[in-house]
Amino acid sequence: MRFAAVFTALTVAATAGLQQVSAQSFNVSSDSIVDALLLQAPHYNAPNPPWVAGATPGWYYGKGSPDGILCILEGLLCELLELLPFCLHCPHKVKNPPEYTPTFTNLTCAAQDSSYQTYGLVDTVADCQSMCDTVEGCVFFNVYHDNNADDKNDSPLLTCALFTSCLGPSSADNCGGQTQSNGLPDTISESSGFCKKTPTA
Ligand SMILES: *[C@@H]1O[C@H](CO)[C@@H](O)[C@H](O)[C@H]1NC(C)=O
Ligand SMILES: *[C@@H]1O[C@H](CO)[C@@H](O)[C@H](O)[C@H]1NC(C)=O
Repeated sequence: MRFAAVFTALTVAATAGLQQVSAQSFNVSSDSIVDALLLQAPHYNAPNPPWVAGATPGWYYGKGSPDGILCILEGLLCELLELLPFCLHCPHKVKNPPEYTPTFTNLTCAAQDSSYQTYGLVDTVADCQSMCDTVEGCVFFNVYHDNNADDKNDSPLLTCALFTSCLGPSSADNCGGQTQSNGLPDTISESSGFCKKTPTA
């Protein structure tokens, strides 16, 4: 059942000793409230990391609207997430985005590590970097094609996994090989890892 609810956000801007308070309201569906509440720390709707059988991506950030992904980071969902400090936020354009150093490129295996935070799907490597810029605690992202993967609905999108530790090539030991519903194994390609030079909050 869908119903409309109006949320009011108070934005407080302090300017030279003068406080301005303005109210903004917008309508959201109950579905987007449910989606927003799924996107909570620490794993933001992806409690199982991508190397666990049956894991599903927690979100999608990009220009499309892939089937089978519940939380598409766009529009009203982003506005709603802004009101919820404990939830994932959508990437913003920032003036001085953090810089990253590649630690491995174009491997056929993906990183596995206990510093895993969350994973989702993206269109480009830059989109994955924007997610790591945004998610609190993220210092490393691994972006790759997970081919013939049931959990991606066989979409050609990139998998984007975020971590709280910088990882080198030795961490990339998830080389696919899990049998999928069509009886064939998944394979990983173009797997690259990037470490944030200066960790940001
Ligand atoms: C929200 O929806 C109500 C009823 O559909 C409408 O009257 C109101 O103008 C809408 N508010 C906004 C901010 O879109
Ligand atoms: C990535 O590696 C594959 C082989 O695993 C190779 O065919 C391809 O040309 C490489 N791509 C780049 C950009 O180096």
